[in-house]
Amino acid sequence: MTELDQQQRDHLRALDDAYARVLEAQRLDGVLLYSGHPARHFGDDQHASFAAYGHFIHWTGQAELAHCWLLVRPGQVPVLYLHAPADYWHLPARLPEAPWVDHFRVVPRDRADPPALPPGRHAVLGDVAPADASALGAELNPAALVTALDELRVRKSDYEASCLREANRCAMQGHRAAREAFLAGGAELDIQLAYLGASRQRESALPYGNIVGVNAHGGVLHYQHYALEAPPRRHSLLVDGGHRHRGYCADITRSWAGPDADPLFAPLVAGVTALQRRLIGELAPGVSFVALHRQMHEGLAALLVAHGLVTASPEAALASGITRAFCPHGLGHLLGVQVHDVAGRLDGEGHPLPPPAEHPALRLTRELEAGMVVTMEPGLYVIPMLLAAHRGSPEIDWERVDRLASHGGIRIEDNVRVTGRGPDNLTPQDE
Ligand code: GLY
Ligand code: MN
Ligand code: MN
Repeated sequence: MTELDQQQRDHLRALDDAYARVLEAQRLDGVLLYSGHPARHFGDDQHASFAAYGHFIHWTGQAELAHCWLLVRPGQVPVLYLHAPADYWHLPARLPEAPWVDHFRVVPRDRADPPALPPGRHAVLGDVAPADASALGAELNPAALVTALDELRVRKSDYEASCLREANRCAMQGHRAAREAFLAGGAELDIQLAYLGASRQRESALPYGNIVGVNAHGGVLHYQHYALEAPPRRHSLLVDGGHRHRGYCADITRSWAGPDADPLFAPLVAGVTALQRRLIGELAPGVSFVALHRQMHEGLAALLVAHGLVTASPEAALASGITRAFCPHGLGHLLGVQVHDVAGRLDGEGHPLPPPAEHPALRLTRELEAGMVVTMEPGLYVIPMLLAAHRGSPEIDWERVDRLASHGGIRIEDNVRVTGRGPDNLTPQDE
C-alpha cells in the first residue's frame, strides 16, 4: 500500500462513520447515491460531457462513471452497483485495480435503473426521476440530508488534500506550457491545446471549461471561446485552467504580460500577485472569509491609487464602489470534488450565510476552519460594461484605464489548505 492508499483507507473509514452518524440522526436506514448520466442533445443521439454527482465522487473518486449507484447503510459494507453492460460499441466501465475498491461490495450490472432497496427507510440522492424514487419507496433529495452530507465535504481529509495537491501539480504543467505557447505567438486555441497536452487530459475531463483569454478576452470573467488566430498585437494572457485527480479539482489562474503590453500592465500583475500572497498569509482557522474579501478590496483600492488609475484616496475609492467595478467577483470559494464546492454559504448547522448585499458574487461567507481548501483569486479588470457607470467620474484617470482596456484583466488564483500551523499552498509556485 502506498501512503496515498493508506490515506484513502482512512478517508473511507471516516466516511463510514460520518455517514452512519448523519443517517442515524436523520432516522434513515440508508442512502442510495446516484452517479448521474450525461444529458443527450435534444433530438440527437449525441451526449454532453459528464461529471458524476459530488457525493458519489466523495466516496469513489470516479468522476466519469455514469449510471452507477452506491448504497450506504450504517454498519454495512457500502455496495457499488457498477453499470458495465456487455457492449461492442463502447468499452464497458471498469474499476481500477486499487486497494480502495476492497472497501466496497462491487455489483456489476447491465441495467441502468435503480437497484432494489432492502427493507427500511431510505433516501435517494442525485439526478433521479421522481417516478424512480417513488418506485423505490425512497425520499428524493431530502434537503436536511443533503445539507448534512454537504457539510462532510467542507473539511478535507489528508487524502483529499493529497489529491488536490496532485491535481494542482498537473494543472501547473499545463499553465507553464500555456504561457510558452502564448509567447511563441500561439492563438487561444493553440494555448488551450498546449495546456491539455502538457497536463495530459482531454477537454471533457477538465473540472470546468478552461478560460484562455488573450488581450481584452481576459476581462470576460468566464470567457468561453478559443480564437483560432492570434491577434496582431499581443498585450496579455489570462489562463484559468484546471485538472482533476481522482475526482479532486485544481482551479488555478495566471496572468501574463505579452510582448506588446503597455508599461502599466506588468507592474499591475506584480501588484495583484503581491496582494494575493499577502491575503494567503492571513488564512487561518477562525478568520472570516467575508473580512478577507473586504481586505482584498482595500488592497485593490491601494493598488489602483498607487498605479495612477484612481486619483482619489483609497478610502474614497472604496466608499464610491469603484473597486467593485474593477473586480466584481469574490476573493475565492471552497474547492473539492466540485470546483465551486458545496456549503460555502451555510454555517456548520446548515443555516444560510448570504453574502453582503454589495458583494453578491462572493461564494464563501463562512468562518475558516482547519481542513478547508479555498481558492484565493483576487482580480483586477477593465470591464467596459461595469466602468460605464463611473464614466465621467473625476476619481478615475480615464486615459490610463483606457490604455489598459485592450489587456482585459488580471487574476492570480492559487488553491490553499487552511491549517492551524499556517496556510498550506497546494499550488506549485514558479518564479
Ligand atoms: N474557474 C472558475 C473560478 O475561478 O471560480
Ligand atoms: Mn479559476
Ligand atoms: Mn476559482
